[in-house]
Formats: sequence, C-alpha cells, structure tokens
Amino acid sequence: MNKPAHDMFPEANHDELSQQAFLRSFMMHIYEKVMPGNDVLYQSKIKPQFEKEFGREPVTRKEVREALGKEPYNQMWSSLMRTSQEMMYSTVRPSIERQMPALKQKASALKDEANTKSNPVGSLSLDPELEIPSYHTHADIHCKPGGYHTKTHDGDFLAGAEFDRTVMVYFHGKTGPLADDMGLSLARWIKENNPEFDPAAILDMGCTIGHSSVPYTDVYPDAEVHAIDVAAPCLEYGHYRAEALGKPVHFSQQNAEKTNYADGSFDLIVSHILMHETSHKALENIIAECHRLLKPGGLMIHMDVVGAPDPFGQYLCEWNAHYNNEPYMGGLQDEDFPTLFSEAGFVKDSFFMEQIESVHLPKTMPEVMAAKRAEGVVIGIGYYTIIGSRKAAS
Ligand SMILES: C[S@@+](CC[C@H](N)C(=O)[O-])C[C@H]1O[C@@H](n2cnc3c(N)ncnc32)[C@H](O)[C@@H]1O
Repeated sequence: MNKPAHDMFPEANHDELSQQAFLRSFMMHIYEKVMPGNDVLYQSKIKPQFEKEFGREPVTRKEVREALGKEPYNQMWSSLMRTSQEMMYSTVRPSIERQMPALKQKASALKDEANTKSNPVGSLSLDPELEIPSYHTHADIHCKPGGYHTKTHDGDFLAGAEFDRTVMVYFHGKTGPLADDMGLSLARWIKENNPEFDPAAILDMGCTIGHSSVPYTDVYPDAEVHAIDVAAPCLEYGHYRAEALGKPVHFSQQNAEKTNYADGSFDLIVSHILMHETSHKALENIIAECHRLLKPGGLMIHMDVVGAPDPFGQYLCEWNAHYNNEPYMGGLQDEDFPTLFSEAGFVKDSFFMEQIESVHLPKTMPEVMAAKRAEGVVIGIGYYTIIGSRKAAS
C-alpha cells in the first residue's frame, strides 16, 4: 500500500501507515464479518415476517430499509460503516496535509519540464468562474470533507491527492497499482466487443483525478483523450499525476451538463461512477449533452452502481443515500435508462445494459456472492454494470 505507483502518489510514514493499515483491517472486518449478518437477518427473519404480515415478499428497497432498519444488528452495521467512512478522511487527510509542500514541489518540477518540451504530454484547463452544481455544494459527498471541489488557495490540489490515497486504502490496492480498474476494464471491453471501432477523440466525464481516463491512452494510443470534472483540485492533481506517468490526457474543468466542446467532437464518451453523484435533472442534461457531443454513429457508455436484481441488493446501494452522503444513489436505482437515452435522441435499438468483468478484481457472480455472504463468507464481486447507446449514424 505504501509503494508509490507514480511520482505524485502521496506516501505514508511509519505511524500514518500503521493508522491506515488499522483502518483497512477495520473496514475489511465490517465487510467480511459484520455485513453478511444483514443477509442472514433478512432471509431468516425480515422476509418471513414481512410475508406473514403482507402475504408477499418485500418488493421495494424502501420496504427492506424500513423493516431491516428497526433491527439493532442492522443499526450497528450502519453505524460502523459510517464511522469507518469518516475515519478514512480523519486518518488520511493529516498525512496529505503534511506532504503538500513536497507534492507542490514535485508538481512545480513537472510544470517546468512540460514548459521546456515543444510537444507537451497532456494539458490542464481550469475555469475559476465555473459554478459548482448544488448537488455538490449541499453535502460532502461520501463524507469527504469539502467534497471534490473545495480548495483553499490557488494551486491547492489536496482534495485530489487525498482521493488517490483514500482509493488505495479503501480497495487495498486491489483495483490495480494505478487504481485504474474501472477505466481499464471498460476500455478493454469496448475494444474487444467493437474491434472495428477506432475512436479518434474520447471524452471521460466526471474523471476526478483521471484514474479511469488514463487507461484509454493505452488501449487507444492514437486517440486524443479528454477528461472533464467540475472539481479543480482533483483535475489539477490528476494532471500532474498523468504527467508523472507520461500519459497524454487533456483535463478541463467543465460541467458535463453543458460543456464548451463543439457539436460532434467525440467518437466515444464514457463515465465511471459519475451518474450516482448527480441529480435526476442533471443526468437528463448530461445524456442530452453526450448526444450533442457525439459524432454520428458515436458510442456513449456509463458505468455505475445499478442493476441489483432484488430489493435487498437495491437497499444496499440505497444505504449510501441515507447514511453516506450520496443523496442520488437511491433514485438512480429507479431510472428508466432506455427511455432516458431514447428521449435524448439515442437509437432505441442500440440500448444495452450489461455486466462486464473487472480486469483486476477477483470475479464471482452476484448470485454466488449472495449465497456465500449468507454463509458468512465474503468474496469479491469483480463485475461492473455498464449502460450505453449509440447516436444514429446519420
Ligand atoms: C465517484 S467520482 C468519479 C470517479 C472517477 N470517474 C474514477 O473513475 O476514478 C464522481 C466525479 O464526478 C464529478 N462530477 C459530478 N457531477 C459532475 C458534473 N455535472 N460535471 C462534471 N463532473 C461531475 C465529481 O466532481 C467527481 O469527481
């Protein structure tokens, strides 16, 4: 966990590492040993009780939440989850603050190096006038203090550096040495399933620090890769990170609901867990913007935490809306994506929603996972849900 994957990666000294290792073990304990108790409780008590009272199984996540939420065991699990999430930032942030002067020096050296090149690797364009959407300013998303966008001074990229380290702590490096599993998995899936498709311009929306944007430069080395986000400190850190890796990504601070790119600028538009962090209205705007930005025949694919097959799985997603400051995670489960996409102009017959395999994570099908969890055994999921459509060819 402490081995830097690139020159900008924040390290941890002995004590910080020990705190982060404790936190990681604490989180794993909650996931592996405490969380499965919810499945057992649901199957053995909540569901039979509900059936007795209403003559049917629970069919909505709300029904599951209301019944499970009364159970002290479920309340304990919720409380541990929330506490561990808050602890992640209270543990990692002081370590990043300590390193900011050194990280800024590294960034400055990268800037100097880029200025001496006749053909710089990537680029960064910030817009201090950009209005941060209210769905970001109203809550610190997943308890990250100040969210993704807060900066206290010019050149402050702490929120981005912190994101890099917390992702590594959260997944214990299982999403790859560059934490690029989502982008790498999707980029490779696109290439394998569309061998003739050769995008010249790619846009990654809601890129944060570009974990998922960078893999597109490897899978499609001839393409120009652009990445947008509303959060300046994440984009700034992401730019230095990509430069340190020598990967050509063009980062730009823009709202995906309304960008400044010309009509038909891209062959491929992707996002990786952006949708659940936007409101329903914003999502409608983003899909319409994707349609405007794609060339005829262009492809749009969004990856997100949707498609749980039963109300219990949907409840687990929705839990984040109630207890982890991810207000739209519940509503996203109810979106009618085929209608949303076709109303924005996408070809109805081209709609697809499927599970793709992760490159790095261990793979186990959801039904096997549910059965194993009920036995108290936890295994990785290793699959991502993707939803996409094409713009008409002419
Ligand atoms: C969960 S993070 C995405 C993670 C990232 N795609 C990755 O693969 O590592 C969600 C990101 O979406 C950004 N975001 C949310 N709404 C946005 C919008 N309307 N336009 C641009 N970015 C947005 C947030 O600032 C945040 O950085």
